Amino acid sequence: MSNIIFVLNGPNLNMLGKREPGIYGGETLETIGEDCRSTGAKLGIEIDFRQSNHEGVLVDWIQEAGSKAKGIVINPGAYSHTSIAIHDAIRAVSPLPVAEVHLSNIHAREEFRHHSWVSSVATGMICGFGSQGYLMALHALAARLGAAQQKGQG
Ligand code: DQA
Repeated sequence: MSNIIFVLNGPNLNMLGKREPGIYGGETLETIGEDCRSTGAKLGIEIDFRQSNHEGVLVDWIQEAGSKAKGIVINPGAYSHTSIAIHDAIRAVSPLPVAEVHLSNIHAREEFRHHSWVSSVATGMICGFGSQGYLMALHALAARLGAAQQKGQG
């Protein structure tokens, strides 16, 4: 299997650029996707970048990643704070490494954003660094992948 990483984006992230730029920045999701693909190319990983506003679609993609990908970067958007279905889907593809990303620092915002159902089942979580967080997550997963492949587990 080649080194594919799914980068999954949840609800309202298709609105980036127009949506609350003071919080989420002015970059569009398309630009973030391009940056992920160029970082992926440098790291020797193929990026499959997707966005959906629908919880079940994200669950389907996590399951698909279980058989096709070497890892997942996911910004679940507001579903982070509500979705046990996404939590369970990540558990179901364990031990696939999962990096949770948020553009904003969810802990410095409203209290309802402080808890994420994804964090306890993710390998790790990056928040507050804007779109850089996606690239940091790709570096972290690539390093893990390299280590696993050296041990003959990749
Ligand atoms: C977000 C944070 C969530 O609380 C919010 O619902 C989003 C975006 C972020 O990237 O900062 O849609 O995941």
